[in-house]
Order: sequence, then structure tokens, then C-alpha cells
Amino acid sequence: MRKFYVRTYGCQMNVYDSHLITQLLIDKGYEQAESELDADVVILNTCAVRRKAEVKAVDHARFLRHKGKFVVFVGCVARERGEQLLRDGSADAVLAHRAYSKIPDIIEKSQSVVDISLNGKLLEFTDVVFRRVKTGFSEFVTIMEGCDNFCSYCIVPFTRGREVSRPAEDIVKEIHHLEKQGVIEVTLLGQNVNSYFDGRMDFAELLDYVASNSSVYRIRYTTLNPRDVSIKMLRVVASHLPRLTDWLHLPLQSGSTKVLRDMRRGYTKEEFIEMVQNVRRILPEAVITTDIMVGFPTETEEDFLDTLDVVRKVEFDHAFTFIYSPRPKTRAAMWPDLPYEVKSARLRKLIDEVDRIARQKRERMVGRVFEVLVERPSDKDPSLPMARTRGYLPVVLDRWIPIGEIVKVKITEIKGLTPLGRVIK
Ligand code: SAH
Ligand code: SF4
Ligand code: F3S
Repeated sequence: MRKFYVRTYGCQMNVYDSHLITQLLIDKGYEQAESELDADVVILNTCAVRRKAEVKAVDHARFLRHKGKFVVFVGCVARERGEQLLRDGSADAVLAHRAYSKIPDIIEKSQSVVDISLNGKLLEFTDVVFRRVKTGFSEFVTIMEGCDNFCSYCIVPFTRGREVSRPAEDIVKEIHHLEKQGVIEVTLLGQNVNSYFDGRMDFAELLDYVASNSSVYRIRYTTLNPRDVSIKMLRVVASHLPRLTDWLHLPLQSGSTKVLRDMRRGYTKEEFIEMVQNVRRILPEAVITTDIMVGFPTETEEDFLDTLDVVRKVEFDHAFTFIYSPRPKTRAAMWPDLPYEVKSARLRKLIDEVDRIARQKRERMVGRVFEVLVERPSDKDPSLPMARTRGYLPVVLDRWIPIGEIVKVKITEIKGLTPLGRVIK
């Protein structure tokens, strides 16, 4: 068993973990397969945030085992289902986040083991982070893991465990290691980056420290918890523009104060709007994106209208929208679920409103000049590149520019929701 393949579901933190697992296996002499079917071992890094994601991963694991692959099941579903995955034939080994260092050994011995305890060390606390080989010009760097908030709908605190922050020195050391390989953009990751505290520095101080002690072209950070956005942090961002990005991902979840209370989010509708006003005052060019959920058990039609109201007042540049999905162990799972038709009708209305506003905002970009970083070939026409503004908005360029280059563009029109840009420099 020498050839492995890592398949990743879920959030960026899983993407980061998958990079580290890949490095761990390469260090031990394993070879990365071109595809799953070409591999002997498949590491499935899974997500449990919604039921659909979970079911997809389990079904895929069974398919792979049926094809004779040795399936190492890791990530949030591993932590949630544990031994059951071995019993029902979905995995050969099951490991949660703090047991990843064991992966090479388990493959070596074809061991059928389960370790979902939270006793071990996270990979980002080991030397593998300083050996990692870049996968592109833009890389993720996890700064904190876990969550202490226990929002009533969310499984993450149960799967990722309590919050732990990495020492600031290690974070900068990892960024230096990536810079030496030509990485020009880093995204600092955590379930709640603004809860960062390594015993000395808080998140605002970490941002200042990273920006002052690195030379990467751009530094992003996600996800921010709306409750903990401080004026201090916004001022640090303002003082390091444009290297520190003024793209803020601020998950609203709901616009109703009652639902927010039932969700245990720790802010009201008014407080969210006020926080956004602070952002706009200190960072007038800020791009604000969000996550919104519809169909939480206690959400009435009136509560949903409050969500639409916040969407209109805040004018998000983009929103990821979800239908509430009951999750094991969570408090909200004990409440009756709303009918699917109610939830999906609200989702449709929400998406229409979010898109209408996002389009209006994009229209205001026409005629303006933006510096953009070329990310990849565009989906619709791969002969033209897709680039990102400092605020992480995608722009399709009018001619080919190599990936990883930085150019200035003038926005000429908005097609669908995507700005088109003429390269001017
Ligand atoms: N830490 C982040 C969110 C991480 S989960 C925060 O506090 O905002 C990513 C997104 O998944 C959440 O923002 C939420 O919108 C969605 N989500 C989480 N649990 C969910 C559930 N049970 N059903 C549907 N969507 C959910
Ligand atoms: Fe989940 Fe809430 Fe923690 Fe975000 S803050 S990961 S939604 S419990
Ligand atoms: Fe999913 Fe776990 Fe991330 S549940 S969203 S992979 S923290």
C-alpha cells in the first residue's frame, strides 16, 4: 500500500488539515495518486455541519471500500460517528483531528483502529507545518481550532473540541516557510479567528504582528464571529491596508433577535447592524460577506422578514445561504423541525434578495479601477482568467494573464453577478 489519495469535504480548515496529512505521508515515502481509483489508500476528510454533507461522505466511503480501497475516515464525521463507521463497513480506520499523526503507522500496518479522543496533538502543533510544500501561490494557515460557543444548531464544538490557539511565533514561522516557496497570499483560519489568544496576543495583536513580520502580498482571515469584532481589530486592519484585507466574513445566521437568542449567537439584530456601521466607518471600502440560515425551528415568517430586513440594511456583497439541518448532540435538534417546503420557500426568497442586492453593489464597481490577483481560469471560459480584488470579489479579465500575477483592471460591465475587467496595467 504505497499510493494514497486525500479527498476533502467541508471547510477550509479541512483543506489545511488535508495538506498536512499529505505532507506527513509524503515524508514517510508514500506516493500521491492521480485519482482515488488509482490509489491503494483513500483518506476521506469529512464534514458533519449539515446532514447532507455527512451522508455524502459515508456513501462515498462505502463505494471506495467496495472497490477494495483501504479507507481512513477522518474529520468531523469521524469524530461524530466513531466506531460505528467500522461496524457498518464504511471505514477501515477512523481518526479524529488529534490523532492524525498516527495515519502513516496505521496504513503501514493496515490497522483497523478508532481514535476519536481529544487527547493527542493537532498536526499544526507539530513540525510537519514547517516542512509543508506549497500547493499554489495562496495558502491557508490555521491560527486557532475548535469552538467554545455552542450555538444551539451547531455540531462544530462537539467535533473540533474546545478552542486552542497556536503560538504567534509558530504562525509567523510557517508563513516565512511559505514565503520562501513563493507564496504571496495567506489566509489565517479558525472557527472564530477573533477569539484567538495564545496567552499573550489577542487577534488584533496577532494581525498586527503577522502583517509587520511578513512580506506576503496579501493576508486574509476567516471566520470572524460578529459578536467579537472589536474596534481595535478594525483599526489594525485599517493601518495595514492593503496588505491586510478589508474583506470581512461575518456570519449573520438570522436577522431576528428572538431567533438569534434561541441560536445562542450572543448579539441582537440591532447590535449586528451597529457592528457593520463601525466596520464601514473605519474601513469604508470593506467587502462584507456572510452566512445565513433559514428554517431554524423557532423561526416564524415574521422572523424571516427580519432576516431580509438585515440583508437590505447591511447590503452584503455575497451570502452563503443554508437550510437549517438538525444535528446530533445539539440543543436545537430537540425542537420540532419545520416542514421542508417552508424552509425551501424561504431559502428561495432569501437567495433572490441576496442576489438582487449583490448585483446592485457590483454595478457600482463599473468604471472603477481595482488591483487584482489572478487566481485560476474562469469557469465559463477557461481561456480567460478569474482574478480577485482585495475584497475577494471575483473579476473575469479580458485577456489571459498568468496565474498568481497582479494587475490593474477597469471594470467594464457586470455579467450575471460577475464583474468583467479590462486589463490596464
Ligand atoms: N464559526 C462560524 C461557522 C462555522 S459553520 C460562525 O460562527 O459563523 C459554517 C456555516 O454553516 C455556519 O455559518 C452556518 O450558517 C452553517 N451551519 C452550521 N450549522 C448548521 C446547521 N445545523 N444547519 C444548517 N447550516 C448550518
Ligand atoms: Fe458553530 Fe457557533 Fe462555533 Fe460557529 S461560533 S463554529 S456556528 S458553535
Ligand atoms: Fe464541517 Fe467540521 Fe468544518 S463540520 S464546516 S469540516 S469544522
